[in-house]
Amino acid sequence: MSGNPEQTYDEIVTGRRSIRGFLDRPVPRDLIEEVIALALRAPSSFNNQCWNFTVVTGDALDNIRKGNTEGILAGKPDSREFRKHDGQHLDHRTRQVDVAKQLFGAMGIERDDKEGRQDWVLRGFRQFDAPVSIIVTYDRELLGSDIAPFDCGAVTNALINAAWSRGLGCVINSQGIMQSPVVREHAGIADNQVIMICVAMGFPDDDFAANAVYTNRKSVEEAVRFVGFED
Ligand SMILES: Cc1cc2nc3c(=O)[nH]c(=O)nc-3n(C[C@H](O)[C@H](O)[C@H](O)COP(=O)(O)O)c2cc1C
Repeated sequence: MSGNPEQTYDEIVTGRRSIRGFLDRPVPRDLIEEVIALALRAPSSFNNQCWNFTVVTGDALDNIRKGNTEGILAGKPDSREFRKHDGQHLDHRTRQVDVAKQLFGAMGIERDDKEGRQDWVLRGFRQFDAPVSIIVTYDRELLGSDIAPFDCGAVTNALINAAWSRGLGCVINSQGIMQSPVVREHAGIADNQVIMICVAMGFPDDDFAANAVYTNRKSVEEAVRFVGFED
């Protein structure tokens, strides 16, 4: 359930999940402003708040979806503005496969359904046809620092939880910025900004099966070491 501003922190954090199917319903600008205002309370290194947001909808967003998809299908290289890892730890790969299995299972996409899988990937390149995309950027002076992407992560997490508390669904969407020059052009992002990520946002479509997928997490035992405690 989303949409109830009376939700407790626990209810928001444990109830939120990525939303990849949206109602064909515009998101009011004042609601987006309210959500971003909450997200802006995120902590940042030295309180430098290096982040900026470009909120895109309408024709500009459609042009981004089109250009991103066309570029990828034409074989243009991935031009995201962050470093990528080469290898993948086995546990990471296992978790990635688990999420894919959950999503494909919910959507009824079989293992050998190449067309269905391709369609799903294309949806990702189109930011799942969300009515709004929020492009998170940071000040170029900080390019090369690992702290700027860390701070962008903090504010993005705050953003998706704030959105959930107000009845909006999001998916953080790295596929949507694969052709970053296209995003830069149609969203009018200045050269002094580095594109970090985008967040697809809208009102969740409760009939879209993948929206019910609830992903697993490591347990506290798996993720945490306690040092210096008595027990
Ligand atoms: C940096 C980042 C990039 C992501 N990019 C994508 C993406 O391109 N496509 C997608 O479907 N989900 C993407 N996700 C969503 C993750 O798959 C999702 O957060 C994860 O599986 C956990 O599921 P949950 O958000 O439902 O809890 C991304 C998440 C993060 C944090």
